Amino acid sequence: MKKVDVVIGTFFGDEGKGKIIDFLASKADISIRCTGGNNAGHTVEAMGKKFAMHLIPSGLLNNAIGVIGNGVVIDPRVLLEEIKLLKDNGIDTNKLKISDHAHVILPYHIMMDKLLEEIRKSNKIGTTARGIGPCYCDKYERCGIRFVDFVGDNFKELLKINIEKKNAFFELYGKEKLNFEEVYNEYKEYARLLKPYMIDSVNYLHNEIENGKKVICEGAQATLLDIDFGTYPYVTSSNPTVSGFCAGSGLNVHQIGKVYGVLKAYSSRVGEGPYVTELLDETGDLIRELGHEYGTTTKRPRRCGWLDLVALKYAIRVNGITDLVINHVDTIGKLEKIKVCTGYKVNGKVSGDYTPNVEVLKKCEPVYEEFDGNFGDLSKVRKFEDLPVKAQKYINFISTYTGVRVSYIGVGPDRKQTIKL
Ligand code: IMP
Repeated sequence: MKKVDVVIGTFFGDEGKGKIIDFLASKADISIRCTGGNNAGHTVEAMGKKFAMHLIPSGLLNNAIGVIGNGVVIDPRVLLEEIKLLKDNGIDTNKLKISDHAHVILPYHIMMDKLLEEIRKSNKIGTTARGIGPCYCDKYERCGIRFVDFVGDNFKELLKINIEKKNAFFELYGKEKLNFEEVYNEYKEYARLLKPYMIDSVNYLHNEIENGKKVICEGAQATLLDIDFGTYPYVTSSNPTVSGFCAGSGLNVHQIGKVYGVLKAYSSRVGEGPYVTELLDETGDLIRELGHEYGTTTKRPRRCGWLDLVALKYAIRVNGITDLVINHVDTIGKLEKIKVCTGYKVNGKVSGDYTPNVEVLKKCEPVYEEFDGNFGDLSKVRKFEDLPVKAQKYINFISTYTGVRVSYIGVGPDRKQTIKL
């Protein structure tokens, strides 16, 4: 039976997972998303156009069947907009399938996300304000509305109970309350439109794999944003690590094939939270401009810094990464000197072990190794041997330090500007 290849972000997201996902999806039958919601975003090129996808598995634009797994949280309004965008561009959306057990984001989740950030005052997380965290809270509190409930007869009752509860909270903080009838009438129409896409995704995926189909998993967010393994509380509310793959799809560990860990030749982060290799100087600004580091979903300028091999080693351990994908080698190669973090110095001792403990991270000083930059124009390089020796040395160092092979190198924004090793 064919194994399921999984694509994982190794740092704080925005590593350029879309490129490798597109490549793998073009050879796959089914592409699944297992965690997160429309806090994710990546741009896919199809039929000569660029599409910013937030929820629909981007593999669908590469002719694969796209499955939104049970671990995802779905904003129906956003999903319908994405479906419309694809339909208007002649893309077959019948290949979209939605798990009956995915949870639904409702207006009170978005209102709650914004209100909770307000209440946090100086301890803001910097969420995407898409209602992701509050929706997962309801899932674990067991008052969430799953897709099967959303399109079923008990939606009205469940919605009523939830709105009453949330309104009491909004009232407490002097916020506007939701009108149940208005929300119900709007969302029952969304449910009607989306019902045809619903499937029993767990059995569907197992049956298709048993029938010889190739499946890939499109990771969203990344390791250091993981609710368990990330820099808590500055994390997202799901498990974007490999553990989320099983919990969010119903597939099991024996079915996992390659685990691609995606990174940039530097690093970036959006939102709050510790970031050991962050550059708060003109080099950080230069990387942001050279790498166009502004959010796909929120357009926020990203914090930028050097590549952190301590964190990368942690991501490899937590996810069982088998292959590295290094993007933006062309971008970092525009700098004269490049630094890479090989250890954290804390209380006079240097360690190569990452800890997501925020208090410890605040005290960590990065220990750097320096490399020569000025790689020259890499835009047309398609073979590793054709890269300048300086670039080869940088990449080989990453591979030797981590003990993991590098399988793909990005040398430009275009899908074709990739070196396969
Ligand atoms: P939430 O996922 O909207 O709750 O946001 C929690 C944290 O995760 C914030 O710092 C967000 O900026 C960050 N985050 C969520 N999704 C992504 C992503 O796809 N890329 C990068 N950061 C993300």
